[in-house]
Amino acid sequence: MNKQEAINALKEHNQEQVIKRLEALDEVSAKKLIAQVASIDWSVVESINHKAEDNSSDRKVEPLEAVEIKDIKANKDKYTAKGIEAIKAGKVAAVLLAGGQGTRLGLDKPKGTLNVGINKDLFLFEQLINNLLDVVNQSGAYVPLYIMTSDKNNNDTVAFFEEHNFFGYDKDYVKFFIQSMAPSVDYNGKLYMESTDSLAMSPNGNGGWFTSLIDAGLDKDMESKGIELVNVFAVDNILQRIADPSFVGATILSGADCGSKVVRKCAPDEKVGVMCKVNGHPSIIEYYEMSEELANMRREDGELTYGFGVILNYLFSFNKLVEIANRKLPLHIVEKKIPYIDENDNLVKPETPNGYKFEKLVLDMVEMMDNCVPYEVERNYEFAPIKNKTGKDSLESARELLKVNGIEF
Ligand code: UTP
Repeated sequence: MNKQEAINALKEHNQEQVIKRLEALDEVSAKKLIAQVASIDWSVVESINHKAEDNSSDRKVEPLEAVEIKDIKANKDKYTAKGIEAIKAGKVAAVLLAGGQGTRLGLDKPKGTLNVGINKDLFLFEQLINNLLDVVNQSGAYVPLYIMTSDKNNNDTVAFFEEHNFFGYDKDYVKFFIQSMAPSVDYNGKLYMESTDSLAMSPNGNGGWFTSLIDAGLDKDMESKGIELVNVFAVDNILQRIADPSFVGATILSGADCGSKVVRKCAPDEKVGVMCKVNGHPSIIEYYEMSEELANMRREDGELTYGFGVILNYLFSFNKLVEIANRKLPLHIVEKKIPYIDENDNLVKPETPNGYKFEKLVLDMVEMMDNCVPYEVERNYEFAPIKNKTGKDSLESARELLKVNGIEF
């Protein structure tokens, strides 16, 4: 794309504020901005015009049976043996989603570098590796680990792992890849600029992970290793069990092409996405999409019918991922605080949301699976997300749960 083509594209999409910036730049800076403009998928930016459309009325929602704790207790040995067998045979890989910006936590470094320690250092990345090393020790085999970063945090993330010698993990089993970016806009759909020659771009959500993995050529790496199951998990749950043998085994034995760790909701109105079936497919309904009637519905045993919330820990069949790789995931338009430069070139860091980012979400991949097994885990032992500065799902609440689990910090 040359300068005139960039101007034409911007004009066509009513982005005069960017044209003004582009025209004021020298050749080198202009080139950078033109490359960003060329990379924009305008259908993404324009999706805010269809924001209000709601297709939920044609949805048929049904319960999805979970493997519950009592079932897991009864079958623990069988599940674990099956999982260990798959891990030993090198069929299981893990993907750490660490491309997010952690805006709620307000760190200017990758979230995984957060030090949760009080009496000694204990970094979020470090504890995740410790959790995975438990499985390495149990199975006698390293699990290939793929870490997704973004343009914004890749260098810091890689440097952090190297500086800490991969926290004792064999670095030959660790590979990094960078996810794609999407532009951010104000409430009128105008592109924000983060500097005079750069649009405010941000990672395009965790749902882009498999496409980005393919772009980095790592699907071939997985294929050559004979990977059959991929465990995708979030960076911020410090108690996250990764490649959990029992979960792996239960998913394999169920014959499903997907497994999802879930926790029992603590109240009908808890703000968590729940597993169910929609139009015959496994699916996750967000709490704000759930009618009061469905949220309160009970089974014969008195438990909530839609009572299992997801914790962003999924197992996907590698073959199924390849099969759906070209299918488009829905786009989520999310209100966020977006730093930008104002007309006088001052960088503004807003205290409240000031526009939209565009994200694809991994949970939408579940709907593309033929079937999925929800696998119940105890929240106190496996769910301590660090999302906020204080209160719910914060460093404080995670520290409390680290204590419950006897982890020193
Ligand atoms: P969140 O939805 O909590 O987003 O991510 P976040 O960016 O970490 O935090 P906020 O919302 O800005 O405060 C859930 C998981 O998905 C990853 C995150 O790193 C985290 O592991 N993620 C999120 C990505 O890998 N890429 C993204 O573009 C977004």
